[in-house]
Amino acid sequence: MKPSKAAMRFLGLVLLMALAACQSGAAAQVPEVEPTPDAVPGEKTYQDLVVGYSQLGAESEWRTGNTDSIKEAAEELGVELLFSDAQQKQENQIKAIRTFIAQQVDVIGVSPIVETGWESVFQEAKDAGIPIILVDRAADVPENLYTTHMGSDFVEEGRNAARVMADLLDGQGIIVELMGTLDSAPANDRYIGFREVIEDYPGIHIIATESGDFTRAKGKEVMEGFLRLYGSQIDGLYAHNDDMAIGAIQAIEEYGLKPGEDIKIVSIDAIRDAFQAMIDGKLNATIECNPLLGPKFFEVALQVVNGETVPKWIPSEEGVYFPEDAAELLPTRRY
Ligand code: AHR
Repeated sequence: MKPSKAAMRFLGLVLLMALAACQSGAAAQVPEVEPTPDAVPGEKTYQDLVVGYSQLGAESEWRTGNTDSIKEAAEELGVELLFSDAQQKQENQIKAIRTFIAQQVDVIGVSPIVETGWESVFQEAKDAGIPIILVDRAADVPENLYTTHMGSDFVEEGRNAARVMADLLDGQGIIVELMGTLDSAPANDRYIGFREVIEDYPGIHIIATESGDFTRAKGKEVMEGFLRLYGSQIDGLYAHNDDMAIGAIQAIEEYGLKPGEDIKIVSIDAIRDAFQAMIDGKLNATIECNPLLGPKFFEVALQVVNGETVPKWIPSEEGVYFPEDAAELLPTRRY
């Protein structure tokens, strides 16, 4: 009887751990990427895989962490990765996907900058028999045009941010909101999730919402505008990512108010700089959005290429972090 792939992976993992335990007295480190299973006749291995990956850009620390995770996992596993950075332009992503189709890659991974406008190019990939895996962000297309979507529950992140904000404000106050890139899945969903919860707090009012495009520079600029209009009336800032919150923190300090005290701030991602801002007392909470998707992405890509069925959505596991734990956790954060 042929051993199952799961059994082979488990055996490989046990052998690696046993080997590590035998070496010196140092604590054994479990490898981040699962060992390559022995080849099963007729099935592809990581070393056979050619993967095209269309990244949307490098707008935030989160994105840099995500790109590093994809590249490092490909390198460790021996996957041939064709990587394209679209520099925030959907047309560049579409061009990259068409190039990958022409190159007849085995799988295409894509993190779509916006939700709409993907149907034709995804259909072209489908017609060419190349599976599309959505990584991180979703696309608004019929389900038969992509194989699976792996990433966060952005609506729940928005709900979590609202729960924390309502608590910080004791159910009473005026909030401004820094949105992510317009028409992107995280901006749309974090907007919706936040409101779902805030609706239950009649004493809380969101008085302004504007896009800071997920960047520090734009977050600072938009916050400066909010402060010019509303100044010390603002009790809370909800930022769709930590980078915008960090830009806004600078704007608040320059305006002469204390971020984290005069204006309570909740943002999303849980990047290292957010932990530092919490240690400094300038950020009240960060909601995790995990960018370390590389190892799982290639695992799923291999399963798909070998004809295995995968779930339509593969959610990430994520937490909520507060200042009291920030100093202890910062050294453990990998992005
Ligand atoms: O799609 C994930 C979001 O994109 C992250 O929250 C943000 O930082 C990034 O730019």
